[in-house]
Amino acid sequence: MELLDAMRTQHACREYRQDAVPNAVFHRAVEAARFGPQGGNRQPVRFLIVTDPAKKRQLGEWYLVPWKAYVAAATSGAEAIEADSGDEKATELLLTDPAKSLAAADAFAERFGEHPAIVVVLADLAATHPTDTDLGRLSIVGGASVYPIVQNFCLALRDQGVATTLTTLLCAYEPQVKELLGIPDELSTAAFVVAGYPAQPFPTKLFRRPVHDMAFLDDLATPLPSS
Ligand SMILES: Cc1cc2nc3c(=O)[nH]c(=O)nc-3n(C[C@H](O)[C@H](O)[C@H](O)COP(=O)(O)O)c2cc1C
Repeated sequence: MELLDAMRTQHACREYRQDAVPNAVFHRAVEAARFGPQGGNRQPVRFLIVTDPAKKRQLGEWYLVPWKAYVAAATSGAEAIEADSGDEKATELLLTDPAKSLAAADAFAERFGEHPAIVVVLADLAATHPTDTDLGRLSIVGGASVYPIVQNFCLALRDQGVATTLTTLLCAYEPQVKELLGIPDELSTAAFVVAGYPAQPFPTKLFRRPVHDMAFLDDLATPLPSS
């Protein structure tokens, strides 16, 4: 499929058919994904594709704990934003169909351990190249050696008709996950990508901030012109 079409329709899929994704499909996805950029080309990323029902069930049970806490916080947060914001556009951006999105994500969470595959993305943090660790704020640069490859992986699956949802809530369960899956000390959990064939057709349009609100020319008051 066209690259731009894949990029515009690679959504967070909440509902999957039960049929398994063949190993060859994951293999092709990793084969393409590995060409993503990484600091110093140090190649810190590993993919562990989990299809074993008992292991997925356990991951699903753990996932529900932070998910329920997230829902509680998100629900009260959304109400606060709605009440406080006088900016209609900002409110729309944050809250477009929130109840429907949350309900779909909630049903996805309840079935987390039953989706066809949970791809645990692992990173050797010693092989990332963070350059912002002395700024007295949360470091973000190390992730840049990992997540472009994860997005490549999702796009390469999308190209083969496989849908995904990138999740990170289970990273809080890293010690338990590492024990369950026999992951060595030097690897950290970076993401849990749920993957499978979508129960519904891929969307034709995702809801995102418009370009003029996110790209600027020379200063942040000048939106990037479209031509
Ligand atoms: C860093 C990151 C973490 C995420 N974590 C979760 C998660 O734990 N659970 C979940 O259901 N979705 C998670 N998502 C998916 C987002 O909710 C989703 O990308 C966003 O709502 C846009 O959805 P759409 O592409 O279908 O429009 C995560 C996405 C990112 C990029």
